[in-house]
Amino acid sequence: MCPPTHFAVRYAINQWMDPTRGADAAVAVAQWQTLHDTYRQLGHRVDLIDPDPDLADMVFAANGGLVVTGRMFGASFAHRQRRREAELHRRRFAAARDFTATPGADIGIPTHVNEGEGDFLVVGELILAASGFRTDPAAHGEVADFFGRLVVSLRLHDPRFYHLDTAVAVLDDHTIAYYPDAFTADSRRVLEELFPDAIIACADDALVLGLNAVSDGRNVLVPTGTTHLVPALRERGFHPIEIDLSELLKAGGSVKCATMELHR
Ligand code: ARG
Repeated sequence: MCPPTHFAVRYAINQWMDPTRGADAAVAVAQWQTLHDTYRQLGHRVDLIDPDPDLADMVFAANGGLVVTGRMFGASFAHRQRRREAELHRRRFAAARDFTATPGADIGIPTHVNEGEGDFLVVGELILAASGFRTDPAAHGEVADFFGRLVVSLRLHDPRFYHLDTAVAVLDDHTIAYYPDAFTADSRRVLEELFPDAIIACADDALVLGLNAVSDGRNVLVPTGTTHLVPALRERGFHPIEIDLSELLKAGGSVKCATMELHR
């Protein structure tokens, strides 16, 4: 995770961002701290990366890479405003000596644009991948080759849901929640086929970025403001915990965006 010390909305690279409205870094830090502390209280390890004063979106650590089986495939950002983050995340990962199996050695350098765990989500042995707004579909193949895993390509078509993690929440190795309207008809069919038991989110849930959640398989950290999602999670035996990240929402991000999950 990266504390939002220098968080701001100074430019607009997605539909949620309005530079005339701005954002308050102090509020963002306080809200982010709650998310951070909740992970710790649940017994999870949290590693931090230093924020950079010129990278206002760096709090969205999920975009900095994809980590599976202790190896990282680096990111390559679509917009110049965030481009430098990729290198910082690769360096931070190389320094995480107690995490990686082979420190520094196993980091993939991308050829095509990909925004890390914003557009790649690990569901058990499978990796769901999106294109449409940020990640180049050619990056899906790169990721499949690097990890030797099956990558399922999906296409987003509603600019409000510009990253996969705004439209899909991974709940455990077999279960997801998703908002069908964020996807093209073909991709919707793929999701129906693969996840017949998925929780189907409604527009109200999706429009507060309710699917931008992180689950450890039981506890699900969900953005506040959803209507149907929290009871639906409870019904399936999950333990939802609501987290208010309203300040980060002004940049189009929430819980999952602020969390790069390190899959061992
Ligand atoms: N303002 C950031 C951007 O548009 C938000 C990134 C949100 N991250 C995510 N994983 N969805 O790039």
